[in-house]
Amino acid sequence: MKRILSVLLCLLMVCVSISALAEGEKVGVSMPTKDLQRWVQDGENMEKELKAAGFEVELQYASNDVPTQLNQVETMVDNGCNVIVISAIEGSSLGTALAKAKEKGIKIIAYDRLLMDSDAVDFYATFDNYMVGTVQGNYVKEKLDLDNAAGPFYIEFTAGDPGDNNAGYFFNGAFDVLKPYIESGKLVVRSGQTAFEQVATPTWKTDVAQKRADDILTAYYANGEQLDVWLCSNDSTALGVTNALDNYTGEGWPIITGQDCDIANTKNMIAGKQSMSVFKDTRTLAARVVTMIKQILAGEEVEVNDTETYNNNVITVPSYLCEPVFADANNYKELLIDSGYYTEDQLQ
Ligand code: BGC
Repeated sequence: MKRILSVLLCLLMVCVSISALAEGEKVGVSMPTKDLQRWVQDGENMEKELKAAGFEVELQYASNDVPTQLNQVETMVDNGCNVIVISAIEGSSLGTALAKAKEKGIKIIAYDRLLMDSDAVDFYATFDNYMVGTVQGNYVKEKLDLDNAAGPFYIEFTAGDPGDNNAGYFFNGAFDVLKPYIESGKLVVRSGQTAFEQVATPTWKTDVAQKRADDILTAYYANGEQLDVWLCSNDSTALGVTNALDNYTGEGWPIITGQDCDIANTKNMIAGKQSMSVFKDTRTLAARVVTMIKQILAGEEVEVNDTETYNNNVITVPSYLCEPVFADANNYKELLIDSGYYTEDQLQ
């Protein structure tokens, strides 16, 4: 009985200290869109964790519309949020809201995507974006055994949204691994499109990626020409490319890379239509941001692990980079199902 009482007392003390920490404190969370599964998961995970820590949460999605996001962030500032976490649609478009937040002493955390051109960004939490690209590039290098095989092999590239600061990091990470083989002629890009601006996909949209892939296939691969790889920066673009490749007339099926382990893409990996993805566990990132918020509001030093990489054209933003993980049809069960990220049913 005494033991039970002391356990209850401990529990009570924990509850009291959590609510004392978070009492009356409000966190705004601004996410870009509900269209892509990962942002829905990011938002939900953060809301759950923040509420469990006793914070009030204002969670908004902006339907990939920049003025809507600006409006939502301004409302969060007016509503007295103490900290605002933002994953921007367009990194450099929220300046006025950020300046207003700074004036009021509200702390801003850039979530996953860096907020550009502003001195009002306090911290950045993300996955190591360049590493996402190198994981993809190294996969292609190993799969084709580029150091030993004679080649040539044929490759095309699809990158992300130029308005998203991450997109360049993903592309450069992959391209830096593969560039020497393109220069030596072991990898050939029939379309000749290798500059980021040429291969980018505005707003990361599946149908935009599909349209460009259709055009390239029609122009350069209509007579069964060999195509060995389509390097895609993420899953939404990989899906578009995969759809377009249904009309590919050449032999075999190219290697297709991705990122996020979205459900449709994980199903494609299981079916052999997408070769790999990069898993960025949104629970890890959400938990990191909750830790940051607690540290900020308790006046403690905020833990970061990179103070050099992410300059937003005005300041270098102290960052915490989580580690992305390679995923394919061989390890998805362990990564995604055993860890509780998805249920088996969701991937049927
Ligand atoms: C994220 C990716 C995502 C992409 C499209 C990027 O900023 O880091 O995980 O696939 O946006 O939403």
